[in-house]
Amino acid sequence: MSGEDDIPEPHEPEHDPLRYATGYHAPVLCKAVVEGLVTDPRGVYVDATLGGGGHSAALLEALAPEGRVIGIDRDPAASAAARERLAGELARGRFLALEGNFADVEALLAEAGVSTVDGLLLDLGVSSRQIDAPERGFSYRAEGPLDMRMNPDTGLSADTVVNAWEERELRRVLRAYGEEPRAAKIARAIVAARPLATTTELAGVVRGAVREREAVKTLSRVFQAIRIAVNGELEALERALAAAARLMRPGGRIAVISYHSLEDRRVKRILRYGNLEGRAVRDLYGNLIAPWREIHRRPVTADEAELAANPRARSARLRIAERRADADDAV
Ligand SMILES: C[S@@+](CC[C@H](N)C(=O)[O-])C[C@H]1O[C@@H](n2cnc3c(N)ncnc32)[C@H](O)[C@@H]1O
Repeated sequence: MSGEDDIPEPHEPEHDPLRYATGYHAPVLCKAVVEGLVTDPRGVYVDATLGGGGHSAALLEALAPEGRVIGIDRDPAASAAARERLAGELARGRFLALEGNFADVEALLAEAGVSTVDGLLLDLGVSSRQIDAPERGFSYRAEGPLDMRMNPDTGLSADTVVNAWEERELRRVLRAYGEEPRAAKIARAIVAARPLATTTELAGVVRGAVREREAVKTLSRVFQAIRIAVNGELEALERALAAAARLMRPGGRIAVISYHSLEDRRVKRILRYGNLEGRAVRDLYGNLIAPWREIHRRPVTADEAELAANPRARSARLRIAERRADADDAV
């Protein structure tokens, strides 16, 4: 057994906010993620939103040679890009890239022979590469098909939501996933304009339903809402957070970066109270019973330097929590 003194300290990534950026994606809050997540530099860490592999690269650099990162992405193009970027680490056996939905993280890891982890990262939403590729249909700024699937090989696409769902379902999606105040009007306009073939056509209908000065914010909310529905994003997040509590060794940590309040609210409640209602459950002595202990009460956000270098960091909120030991669930 090695003594505690033998355990190397994680290396601090230098504070260049774009140090791990590539043409694929510029990962946000890298320094805070690595410092917050790594408690055992020889451990196994899951990057459940691999994207272009930026956070994985930062983690691998901070870990000891025995430390490992297992990446997961449901977009096969992301796993392929990360495998190429981290080919050396792949060959050394320090990195593995799996394809799948992070909602199924336990089953995916089981196939890789892993049942306990030391840390897990979720950097939610889509990557710059996905947004910037018109053919993926994520952006209202470029003409593309109504697709929006993170895994373009399977499942429901935006075309079905926009052209086939009933008006009341569409209204519910815009309200629930976009918090869109004009959901009813926009849903009515979309149904009246069917069939819609492209992102530009959809954007035109949305613009026509609201005042010009509200157009950009409305378009962001509508496209976000449809994307969340297409990819079942909130359900996947809830399943992944539940799975993470089962996979995590006591003392291991979860780090979640959210980009909008629907995600952040869920993450905060689960990490603070262990349930989605944000309900404090207490034992007979009045102690809170919860799987996680938050590391910071407030989310970590990007500093000025990162905001100047990477505008995408503007909405990022990082929450980190530590798994309590089961016997220690009451605090
Ligand atoms: C914001 S990007 C992550 C970027 C990454 N941290 C990096 O450094 O490049 C989010 C990624 O997570 C993936 N993703 C989102 N939801 C997912 C899910 N439920 N299961 C697996 N991957 C998911 C997306 O396909 C996308 O590649």
